[in-house]
Order: sequence, then structure tokens, then C-alpha cells
Amino acid sequence: MRNATITGWGKCVPPTVLSNADLEQLAETTDEWITTRTGIKERRIAHVEVSDMAAVASRHALAAAGKTAEDVDLILLATCSPERTIPAAATHLQAKIGARRAAAMDINAACSGFIYALSVADQMIKGGSVTTALVVGAEKLSFFLNFTERSTAVLFGDGAGAVVLEASDEPGGLLSFELGTDGENAGILCVPFSGTEGQPALERPQWVNMEGPTVFRLAVQAMGDASARVVEEAGLSVEEVDLLIPHQANVRIIDATARRLKLDPSQVYVNIASYGNTSAATIPIALAEALEEGRVAPGDNIVFAAFGGGLTWAAGVFRWGSRVTPLGTSDAALPPTDASVFDLLAGNVAMHGKGV
Ligand SMILES: CC(C)(COP(=O)(O)OP(=O)(O)OC[C@H]1O[C@@H](n2cnc3c(N)ncnc32)[C@H](O)[C@@H]1OP(=O)(O)O)[C@@H](O)C(=O)NCCC(=O)NCCS
Repeated sequence: MRNATITGWGKCVPPTVLSNADLEQLAETTDEWITTRTGIKERRIAHVEVSDMAAVASRHALAAAGKTAEDVDLILLATCSPERTIPAAATHLQAKIGARRAAAMDINAACSGFIYALSVADQMIKGGSVTTALVVGAEKLSFFLNFTERSTAVLFGDGAGAVVLEASDEPGGLLSFELGTDGENAGILCVPFSGTEGQPALERPQWVNMEGPTVFRLAVQAMGDASARVVEEAGLSVEEVDLLIPHQANVRIIDATARRLKLDPSQVYVNIASYGNTSAATIPIALAEALEEGRVAPGDNIVFAAFGGGLTWAAGVFRWGSRVTPLGTSDAALPPTDASVFDLLAGNVAMHGKGV
């Protein structure tokens, strides 16, 4: 049977750090509150565009897979913060890496986007129309930060992660997945005026609008329940799960999801302290880091789970293949910057003001 497996992985996190101490100067908040309520210590702020970060992550993933950009048939870029809505950021990514043969499109399922994109690519490979897909999650949510909204301003960061998904005859790959949407509750997590609603106007403030506690409760329920269902659908018991790589929105949501699956903390990959919530990029960045740190073994059963704007949720069980080391490396990197984090956020402060 034609299958699909991940053969390459990579990440790109921009160099500029926004620490909790920096945030104390921008919003009415404290390191202690952010750390205990979310688990986040710092996040990255991009000095480049989403497709620039996506291109660096993709080059690393292609090198790890031993592929060139010309081998890629399909690019799916999961993002809800593309530099432009027309054309899709995926088309800039395609040009930047030189994937001349590839079809390219964005997938917007907010924080669940990477699992959505992975399952679409998986089905296209299994269906026979695609052999090599590049599946990327990349976000620049710092664009939407409003420091007078302290409950959201502290949560989000920028970054990108990518995988190469290739046709394979080996068993394994995406054993099961579930994608879900609750559009009736879309209003509790959204960015008003981030598209074409209403009339064009100069004054159209865009920032994340979120009912935090409601999102928290729904995320815990949806990620836990969907994870349990995909494990069962894959024909596995929870004892056979080796690693949970969850969306990184709040360490308390991650802990609750792990408890629902009865997993030991050692079986859960958590890097939220370093990057905050990078939306669709959290899972591919976490996957790349888990591999770098030797946390993935051949044949491991990995559970992915996410929840986000839409409202959307997604979960999947992925059985890793036989190789956990990259075939090659790339020296791809973002251009350096001398800008301070306050320089990079000057536009946000000018638009919304400081929250202190
Ligand atoms: C946003 C979130 C961290 C808030 O944490 P919480 O424990 O639910 O906190 P609440 O919203 O109930 O607020 C509790 C208090 O902390 C305050 N507070 C909120 N943000 C704060 C901050 N950054 N610093 C200091 N105090 C803050 C609130 O104003 C409130 O004060 P009050 O009691 O005087 O009114 C949490 O709800 C959350 O993580 N939600 C889900 C977020 C998420 O996953 N989003 C993306 C999904 S992909």
C-alpha cells in the first residue's frame, strides 16, 4: 500500500527575543504572572516576513530529507498571518526556495493548521497525485499584538517549522487523524478587520480578540478528547503512545491533555517557555526540536494535538519511520538584524499604545 512518511524536518526561529521582563515595560504584567499562568518565559519577534521564516525552515527540512526544492510536488503552508492575503504566502515560499514544479497554497486553520495541512498532504500522497510534499507552519502573530490587551499580548510569538512528507512503501506514517471545527463559536478567538469585512477604512485596528478562560476550557476538552479518539482509531492503547507533541498555547492546557491520555510528563514535548504560542508553527518547531534532542526513536507512536481560532481542533497519531537523523544539513539562516525588540514592536505601540 502507498504510504506517506516524514523524511525531513527543520525550523526557523527569528533571533530577536521578547522576554517577560521586556513585556513588563510594554504591558501591565509581571514575569511571575506570565510564568505561572502560561509557562512562557520568552518568545521571538520576526524582523522578516512569514515566507522568509518558512523558506529557512523548508531548506533545513529538504536537506534533512536529502531532497532539493525541485523534487517538491506540493507546498502546503499553514498560516493565519501571511504577509499578504493575495497572493498566498505559499507562493512566495515556492519562489524563495525555487520549488519550480510545486503547486503551492496556504491553509488557514489557525493553531490547528499544521495538522490540517499534514493530513491533506498525507491523503494526496496516498491518493497517488503527489509524491513529495513540503508541509510548513509559519506565523508572525507579533503583528497582531496589542499591549493594552495584556491577556493576549503575552501569549504569542513568531517562527516556522517544516517537514518533508514523502510517498513510501513502509507501513506507518499518519495512522489516524481527526479534524474538527466549531464555527458557531468563532467570535471567542479572532482578529477583527484582518480581512475584507465591511468597508475599506483607514482606522481598522487589528489585534487578537480572545475570551481566554472559555478558549482554555474548550481547548482542554477538544485536545484531550480528540487525542483519545485518534489513539483508539489507530488501534493503539495509551500505553503504546511514545510521545505527545501538543500545540503550545498554555502549559496548563498541555498538562491537562497529557493527564487525559494518562501520559507521564516525560512523554510530552514542551518548549512553550522559549517560544510562546506560534500558532500553526508550534508543532513542526517542537517536532524538529524533539528530533534534535533525540526524543524520537524509530517506530515511535507520536500523537499530535492542537486547538485554535475557528474554532478548530485537530489530532493525529503518526508512527515514525526508521530514520531519526538528518541525511544532510543546510546553512540557511535569516538575514541578521541590529534592531532591538522595542524597535521591532514600535509599530504595535504606535498603533495601540503601551499597556502600562
Ligand atoms: C489567557 C489566559 C492565559 C488567561 O489566564 P486565566 O488564568 O484564565 O486568567 P483570567 O483571564 O481568568 O484572568 C485572571 C486575572 O489575571 C489578569 N490578567 C490577565 N492577563 C494578565 C497578564 N498578562 N498579567 C497580569 N495579569 C493578567 C486578569 O485581568 C484577571 O484579573 P482580575 O481577576 O483582576 O480580573 C488563559 O485563559 C489561556 O491560556 N487561555 C487560552 C489561551 C489560548 O490557548 N489561546 C490560543 C488558543 S490557540
